[in-house]
Amino acid sequence: MALDISDHGAVITFCDEHDVELVVVGPEAPLVDGLGDSLRLAEIAVFGPDREAAQLEGSKGFVKDLCAREGIPTAAYARHSDKDAALADLARFGLPVVIKADGLAAGKGVIIAETGEEAREAVAFMFSGGFGEASAEVVIEEFMEGEEASFFAITDGSNVIPFGSAQDHKRVGDGDTGPNTGGMGAYSPAPVLTAALEAEVMERIIRPTVAALAKDEMPYQGVLFAGLMLTNEGPKLIEYNCRFGDPECQVLMTRLDSDLVTLLHAAAQENGLAGLAPVKLSDDTALTVVMAANGYPGTPDKGGAIMLPATDGATKIFHAGTAEQNGALVANGGRVLNVTARARSVTEAQARAYACVDTIKFPSGFCRRDIGWREVAREAQA
Ligand code: AMP
Ligand code: GLY
Repeated sequence: MALDISDHGAVITFCDEHDVELVVVGPEAPLVDGLGDSLRLAEIAVFGPDREAAQLEGSKGFVKDLCAREGIPTAAYARHSDKDAALADLARFGLPVVIKADGLAAGKGVIIAETGEEAREAVAFMFSGGFGEASAEVVIEEFMEGEEASFFAITDGSNVIPFGSAQDHKRVGDGDTGPNTGGMGAYSPAPVLTAALEAEVMERIIRPTVAALAKDEMPYQGVLFAGLMLTNEGPKLIEYNCRFGDPECQVLMTRLDSDLVTLLHAAAQENGLAGLAPVKLSDDTALTVVMAANGYPGTPDKGGAIMLPATDGATKIFHAGTAEQNGALVANGGRVLNVTARARSVTEAQARAYACVDTIKFPSGFCRRDIGWREVAREAQA
């Protein structure tokens, strides 16, 4: 049965009828829409923040203000709801400069402007409704230089437990070229985020965020996905997501050796994580390659035939945008499949994942051929 998740009453009725004891809200839109609040009011446990705390992903300006108040390292910024004031403010940021829609824009609301003209065009585009309501307010940010990595932690609102790291590949093309996507592949862990850096991220970014939200009476329950820039001055926060991320989730879960339900259920209770053992993640690397339908990240071709091979224990194919048509598997979305492999090194996991990709018949689809390239290059030098 397909449930309309924007109909909170219907979701609650479904949970009651099926004795659902825990709801894990995957995407950001229903969290920002307050599905967590509605379920908690109905006394159904939820993994995922309430509407107010979900502003961590739902409003870039909200996060920047929180970082400024708490001294959390991030790029210098300004919030603007007036176009002329925003244009006048651009000069002091230098170039390149980053222009962001404040609200949710399906990962597309960020423009990195290399020239003054591009920056002015970006501001004008945002205020002319470029991203609809999401860009009625704009954040201008200093450009940060460095390598990106993602760090995850789960929290019950006061206790926080690290949940590993990953690195994803946002651009559609090999060598990180072409437009941004939701992610064309990822691997976990991200060794550039060393144990020392992870500890620094926990102390300087994650814990102060959780404490600030608790202090402001909007305790955050769920997973914090911190997008980080590893700069010369140390790790800085780029943004938060209030979910495990796609395709980051696939690689984290592939490495998980703890019981997932126990962890998520504990995080959904006040103080539920107190005294819980650390999350166990395998030392293996997991790497996932996204197979997308031609046209993505623009309008993807729908209905293309897909033939999948049998997989062994070290490789898994997760379905994202697929459907069944007359008993056959077809593409039904932008990002269609996640081919995920586990191995002792990124190089080996990459080889396994692509060996599997090469046995998939999906003529109207494509993938990047270089997922994990930064780490594969580092492993070759080691
Ligand atoms: P976001 O949606 O905020 O994660 O931004 C998307 C991408 O834009 C990030 O993954 C970065 O590659 C880039 N980005 C965002 N903010 C900055 C910044 N201040 N400096 C450099 N790159 C940025
Ligand atoms: N892959 C990044 C995201 O899920 O937002």
